Amino acid sequence: NPPNLQTGESSSLRPASCRSKGGAPGFKVAILGAAGGIGQPLALLMKMNPLVSVLHLYDVVNAPGVTADISHMNTGAVVRGFLGQPQLENALTGMDLVIIPAGVPRKPGMTRDDLFNINAGIVRTLCEGIAKCCPNAIVNVISNPVNSTVPIAAEVFKKAGTYNPRRLLGVTTLDVVRANTFVAEVMGIDPREVNVPVVGGHAGVTILPLLSQVKPSCSFTSEEISYLTDRIQNGGTEVVEAKAGAGSATLSMAYAASKFADACLRGLRGDADVVECSFVASQVTELPFFATKVRLGRSGAEEIFPLGPLNAFERGGLEKAKKELAESIQKGVSFITK
Ligand code: NAD
Ligand code: LMR
Repeated sequence: NPPNLQTGESSSLRPASCRSKGGAPGFKVAILGAAGGIGQPLALLMKMNPLVSVLHLYDVVNAPGVTADISHMNTGAVVRGFLGQPQLENALTGMDLVIIPAGVPRKPGMTRDDLFNINAGIVRTLCEGIAKCCPNAIVNVISNPVNSTVPIAAEVFKKAGTYNPRRLLGVTTLDVVRANTFVAEVMGIDPREVNVPVVGGHAGVTILPLLSQVKPSCSFTSEEISYLTDRIQNGGTEVVEAKAGAGSATLSMAYAASKFADACLRGLRGDADVVECSFVASQVTELPFFATKVRLGRSGAEEIFPLGPLNAFERGGLEKAKKELAESIQKGVSFITK
């Protein structure tokens, strides 16, 4: 009996629930854009996550192949594939967490905002499906430009009457991952020991690393601050240029998305003190959305932490970040409300 793509089982087998050991708690996770450069390694990593009991892989192309491949891994999650718009609702029904890496990536010379025209519509359609089929799911938005796609998602959910700001999270983890790596190189220590808060948004000057708050604490020279800020803000462009037309960060992004999704699932499970940076609805500044550290819990982003003390360099960076962010947020809002 060949396996059924959607159930992940052949009809003569017992249902997956009979095979799982001792009814271990697990969450249902969907990846939308699962056959893409980020989607495939992210699917691999989520299939390895013991908190995931069911993994739905949705894409408009190649979902069956990726699903067949991933489903052979002897880890706990049951994998099901969904291909194309007619299967979106089945992909989303019952999900606890939906991760969205669907959309086109940059090529050299492009800004993330240049992706708006294509990706805005993709995110709108997917979020309409979420509002209809799993309105209580936590949503992780990866598709760029994140500074606009998160406001788009919020407006779609508002229109549908399902918006809960705690459950909508823009994924900025890659900025933190990069910052930790680059700062560790300068400090000459293990990157796993470093924690750099990165606030603001996810594009150019809106990416604001708070080097004055690095843990373990360290005082940097002004040359080091300038080098690190520039490298962290342009980390995405560094990869886009190195890939020379073949896309943007996919592997480090899948790692970052899996790290963030795992934090969301640990929060949903009720673990204490799960804290990550994320681009969320916020009152930390006068802007409606802003990335800061958030505490993740059973209902999503349960606590949004303030910026903490900033030095003069960071205060200057914050003003620049807010100016660009305000425009990107408004562009996303208008896409739905205009
Ligand atoms: P990719 O082109 O390799 O993959 C995108 C996938 O989305 C493809 O498989 C495509 O078929 C699918 N897709 C397109 N339209 C769809 C739809 N309507 N429904 C479902 N799936 C659809 O691109 P990638 O490298 O995986 O990047 C994806 C997105 O993530 C880009 O917008 C990129 O800019 C963004 N990104 C964000 C971050 C971040 O830090 N937030 C980091 C890296 C990339
Ligand atoms: C990144 O930071 O790597 C992503 O936002 C992709 C990009 O276009 O840079």
